[in-house]
Order: sequence, then C-alpha cells, then structure tokens
Amino acid sequence: MKAHAITDRIYALHADIETDDLFEGIWPIPDGVSLNSYLVKGDKTALIDLVRDWTEAPKVLEEELAGIGVKLSDVDYLVLNHLEPDHTGWLAEYKRLNPKVEILATPKGVELVKSFYKITEGLRAVKSGDSLDLGEGMVLRFEEAPNVHWPETMVTFEPSSGVLFACDAFGSYGKLGDRVFDDQFSPEEHAFFEKESLRYYANIVASFSPFVKKAVAKLAALDVKVVAPSHGIVWRKDPKAIIDRYSRYADYMEGPREKEICVVWGSMYGNTKKGLDAVIAGIEDEQVPYSVHRVPNEDVSYVLADAYKSAGIVIAMPTYEYKMFPPMAYVLNLFERKHVWGRKAFRLGSWGWIGGAKKEYEALVAPLKWDCLEAEEWAGAPDAERLAALREKGRELARKVKEA
Ligand code: FEO
Repeated sequence: MKAHAITDRIYALHADIETDDLFEGIWPIPDGVSLNSYLVKGDKTALIDLVRDWTEAPKVLEEELAGIGVKLSDVDYLVLNHLEPDHTGWLAEYKRLNPKVEILATPKGVELVKSFYKITEGLRAVKSGDSLDLGEGMVLRFEEAPNVHWPETMVTFEPSSGVLFACDAFGSYGKLGDRVFDDQFSPEEHAFFEKESLRYYANIVASFSPFVKKAVAKLAALDVKVVAPSHGIVWRKDPKAIIDRYSRYADYMEGPREKEICVVWGSMYGNTKKGLDAVIAGIEDEQVPYSVHRVPNEDVSYVLADAYKSAGIVIAMPTYEYKMFPPMAYVLNLFERKHVWGRKAFRLGSWGWIGGAKKEYEALVAPLKWDCLEAEEWAGAPDAERLAALREKGRELARKVKEA
C-alpha cells in the first residue's frame, strides 16, 4: 500500500483491516474496513488521525509515510478528530516513538487522551474556529461536530485545498486496496460501498442522526472540494454525493424513508415460516420491494441496515418458552437503541401449547412508536383461512408503506 496524493502537500494514507474480529466488538466486517489517516505538509508536518494496533496497521502507516519521505518522528502535530480507539489505539506507542509530537483534540478529546492513554504532556485543546498554521499556505481549521458520533468529535478543514478531514462522518465499511479516490472505482464497486456505508451508518452513526444533520448544515458554509473520511473512499470528484447520501441516511430516522419493507423472521419448525410466505405473497401482490433476514442465522448488523432505511417492518417469530423467540428480542433491543422508530409494522407467529410472545413484544416495541397492524397468531400450523388472512395483511402493510 502507498500514500496517495490529494494535493502536492496533502496525502491519504490507509491500512486495510482484514480480520475475523468484529468492529466495535459487535459488527462483522467480512469485506474489511480501512483505517484512513492524512498527512499535511507545510513548514511543519501534521498527521490527521491515527490507527489502532490491528493487523499491522501501524507498520502499514509507517511504510506509507516512508514512501513519501516522512519518518514517524518528523510529525510535529497529531490531530485527533475523534478518540475512539480504532483511530487512537496505537497512540501511547506512537507518543513513545515521537515524544515531541503535539496532540490536538477538542477539550473533551484531550480528557479522553488522558483517560485512555495516560498521556498528560504535549496536549492542546482546540475548539470551533481555532486554526493551526503549518506554513507554506497550509492551515488546519477545526470545527467541533459533537456526537458524530462521540461527544468529543471534531472535523478539520484545510481551506486552500478545500479538503475536509471528516473522521467517522461520511465513512464506510469495506477495504480499499490500492485505490482510494471515488473516481477510481467502478459503478459495481460503488454499489458495494453504498451498501456498506448504509450498514456502517445504521450500526454506528444512526442513533446520532440529529447531530449528523447539524454537522452537515454547518459544513454548508465551507467550500468543501474533497471529503476525506477516516474509513472508506476519499471523495474528490463528487464530494456532494457522499454528503447527500449521509443527509438521506440522517433523514431516515424521522422520515422520509424508502418505500420498502424489511422482513425479519425466525422459525423453529417452519410453521411461522409458512405464515410468513403468505405475507410475502401479499407484499408481492402490491409490488412493494422487500428484504428478508432470518435471525439468528444472519447477523443483526445486516438487519439494521435494511430496517433503518425501510418504511415498513414485518416481525415473524414463534412463541418460545412463554415469551418471544429470543434472537428477536435482541433485534428489537437494537432497533430501540438505533432509533428504528415510526415504522408501519406487522407481527405474526405460531405457538405450540400456549402463546406468550405478545406481552414481551408489545413492551419492547412501545418506545419505537410503530404504527402496527393487528398481529396474527395461531396454534401449530396455519390453515387455509389463516393463510388467506396473512396474505391480506401483507397487502395491507404494503399499501400503507406506499402511502407513507
Ligand atoms: Fe472509526 Fe468512531 O471510530
């Protein structure tokens, strides 16, 4: 991997992470993720965002810097837009290798440097409007962007080039390989990154969507020519594309959403699945697009991505030991945390000896304020009359989604 020149003084660096490890200890990344850093050279040199010691990322960073003639010890300033350890996990070791480096972060960020890494010297707190003059026309301006997605977050802007170092904002899962710029990827590759940016957003950023909207509004005042996030593609040809995409994602929280239905199901012996097939036939009758996710077979990370964008949700599950099918309780818990609110919804499921899912389900979805059709529950296998009713419920939900 090599450094990529954004301008003759600004370079994109990245380490592709390929691991069975989970992102944030929760989310699968089967296609990897990139940890991006940036180098800005004036008379002084600044490194923007660091890496975690994860699958040799520090070694990759060091090699990429060497490729442009920069040693770790040449860096005068380390700007930390965000302190989550995927970008800072290597900080204590880096500070030991380059003790003169001055670390810049927001006041809350400086406190996190102290608490995570026990570094107390060479720290500078910056706030919105502050700047750092590196010489040779290179100036870094700082803008706080709280809760995108931690409270200490900021972005950094270099006015002469229009490069916005956005950290987690505008990021994506997915490794980059030996290309980094939006104009270097094919439409098929962009389709992959679009899916992975939605999943990244739904998993990590969704809860903070009102803050994303505020940050995007704040950025409108800047003449952004390049969006340089800390994960994923660097947008130099069409920076508006990723800003608009993130605005759309932020809007999904309160709406408008896609006129689609996300079907989440679990079935022990196939009786709930038989009922669900009838519901799906009803959705198809109305020609509304839908996605289908079986839990726990499929990781909830993927369920969240489709649920977050969709105006409609179907929950299909049996009663299990007088309560809900347990994996669905985890799904609904994450729907509440990630603000999958205000959907048109329908629940169905079978039971063996006695029901019981209803009570737990209703308690879990109450905070989501879903507009729910009357649920369909039945003992054992669904009969022909039940299947007809379920198909009609699928049609009814699809019509509501079309009108949403
Ligand atoms: Fe990429 Fe919030 O860390």
